[in-house]
Amino acid sequence: MTPAPTLAITGSTGALGGLVAHALADLAPRLVVRDPSRAPALGLPVHQASYADGVAAQAALTGVDVLLMVSAAESDERRAEHRSFIAAAARAGVRHVVYTSFSGADPQATFTLGRDHADAEAAIAGSGMTHTFLRDNFYLDVLPSFADDSGTIRGPAGSGRVGAVARADVADVAAAVLRDPGAHVDATYTLTGPEALTLAEVAERAGRVLGRRLSYTEKSVEEAYASRRAAYPDAADFQLDAWVSTYTAIADGSCAAVTDDVARLAGHRARTLEEALAR
Ligand SMILES: NC(=O)c1ccc[n+]([C@@H]2O[C@H](COP(=O)([O-])OP(=O)(O)OC[C@H]3O[C@@H](n4cnc5c(N)ncnc54)[C@H](OP(=O)(O)O)[C@@H]3O)[C@@H](O)[C@H]2O)c1
Repeated sequence: MTPAPTLAITGSTGALGGLVAHALADLAPRLVVRDPSRAPALGLPVHQASYADGVAAQAALTGVDVLLMVSAAESDERRAEHRSFIAAAARAGVRHVVYTSFSGADPQATFTLGRDHADAEAAIAGSGMTHTFLRDNFYLDVLPSFADDSGTIRGPAGSGRVGAVARADVADVAAAVLRDPGAHVDATYTLTGPEALTLAEVAERAGRVLGRRLSYTEKSVEEAYASRRAAYPDAADFQLDAWVSTYTAIADGSCAAVTDDVARLAGHRARTLEEALAR
């Protein structure tokens, strides 16, 4: 009998990786974290490495066959961090990488962080390792946090629609893929919710679940940059571009696709906005 592949999971101190670590605890995955004191207490082996530390990453991944790589926090170093970690994984002998990408990842994506994901996908594809790309839409869970203190989501999204996905569904898909990676070699999946919503609809429906009055107000691109620059004077340009392009990507339809990939892979229908927020 072929021995079960050794799995490693990054990001388990965060929301998505934490859900996957819990779901796969029976497979005894290795948790690769920046701060071992914050690793989930699941009795699993914990290895320390940040994405930028190629030596620590190679050591942490030696002996690993299949890796879940959760995309790094937004920063202007993110592409280099991703590339460093991917190269370390290849040197360590990892055979297959499951990477949490973004819906419509492309070097010219309207959502500027989608360009970082295209870069990571290209690095993985060129690394000699096989892959599964999980191209997630925006998380349904985080959409209400777009609202300001007065409960208003303000931005240049027009009447564009977003097929946002529950983070729990992304975790369910990741877990299913990691249980049977051989069935998903060099596959790319686009993970969405069950419907594409305007931000006005998101505000109205999320407000009902959260017991808070939420609304959407259209702003121009210039107004969106100006308001965010005023609220966060220290924010870097890449961050402002990411915030504003979240809305322009909804406006131009880049995030409107709805797929059945969650249902096909997770074995249950995709969660609605209400179900995602009820968690
Ligand atoms: N689709 C969307 O709407 C959406 C929204 C938010 C984020 N994202 C992306 O999806 C990822 C997972 O989402 P999440 O909700 O689970 O985020 P999260 O709760 O912030 O967790 C991110 C995880 O990645 C780890 N991490 C970040 N940068 C790292 C680095 N340079 N080296 C090593 N580990 C690093 C964090 O470690 P620490 O605990 O040490 O910080 C944490 O465990 C995020 O990292 C982000 O790239 C997508």
